[in-house]
Amino acid sequence: MRKREWSADETAGVLMLVTLVFAVGLGAVGFYVGWTVKGSSKTTAAATQTAVVSVDPHVAAGAHDFVEFACAQCHGLDGHGGVSPDVPSLTAAGKALTAVQLRRIIDHGLGESANPTKPYMPVWGAVISSQQVSDLVAYIRAGLPSVPDAVPVAVPQGQGQVVAGSALYERYGCVNCHGPNGLGGVPNPLSPDKTIPPLTGQDFRGEFNTDKKITDIIRTGSVIGRAPIVSMPHWGGIIPDDQLAALVAYLNTLK
Ligand code: HEC
Ligand code: HEC
Repeated sequence: MRKREWSADETAGVLMLVTLVFAVGLGAVGFYVGWTVKGSSKTTAAATQTAVVSVDPHVAAGAHDFVEFACAQCHGLDGHGGVSPDVPSLTAAGKALTAVQLRRIIDHGLGESANPTKPYMPVWGAVISSQQVSDLVAYIRAGLPSVPDAVPVAVPQGQGQVVAGSALYERYGCVNCHGPNGLGGVPNPLSPDKTIPPLTGQDFRGEFNTDKKITDIIRTGSVIGRAPIVSMPHWGGIIPDDQLAALVAYLNTLK
């Protein structure tokens, strides 16, 4: 049997077909890569998860607020407690307290004293919007279910104190009150300064001129006045010493 030789036309045709298939394949790969890069791994994971479990949007928003405002850092993940004997678990509160009572506690705080010697429930009214408080209440009353991706910011390990401190500044919700980069400016209308103070700038550096002074005020907190004035929470017994050192190292890098 004689091998059939391909004519120039046929060869060109086959080449064209191969190129076409290759191009289409490349396009598909490009599209897929572009898509996965655009949606971060977080949203992609959320998309796959929500396809399985669907969560009431208010409960979901409340779960994310619970992490963002560091409720989880004092009350434990999903409000299960166990962080400090001075901070209660919230699993019972969802059944025992009405929506009105819960809203009042979140807005006005609880257990605050003029000179806090242990953690108290901070005043959030000036910091957290009414809608966010409603979502938090919905989440607590739903029994604080675990919601996909409502997890605290991870703290990078082995990359030094400054990197860890920067993550902790978000994880403990310092950023909500003192602003990104410690710039301050978050309204606190009834306080003498009308805003929550910055953790940068000459006034701050002048008053808090040693690591110890900064560490001490984070540990003890500082109550400026009664609710609805927002005060500095007491973090002693909540934030371990190595994390306090990392936070201070991070604050020292700010302007
Ligand atoms: C700095 C730590 C800390 C943070 C942050 C914190 N809490 Fe609290 N919370 C407490 C302490 C301490 C108590 C108990 C106060 C008391 O009874 O004197 C408390 C009490 C409560 C109660 C009342 C529980 C009960 O059974 O009476 C609710 C509800 C609550 N917190 C919700 C929240 C929510 C929602 C957030 C986030 C927006 C939050 N907490 C953030 C420390 C904290
Ligand atoms: C609920 C809001 C709130 C949160 C959350 C909060 N702070 Fe504060 N913080 C304040 C207020 C208000 C003051 C001012 C207290 C005063 O003037 O006595 C303050 C004061 C301070 C000060 C002293 C600066 C000064 O001028 O008085 C430092 C340092 C500080 N906070 C660090 C932190 C760190 C670190 C975190 C996170 C672990 C944090 N704060 C979380 C509200 C907050």
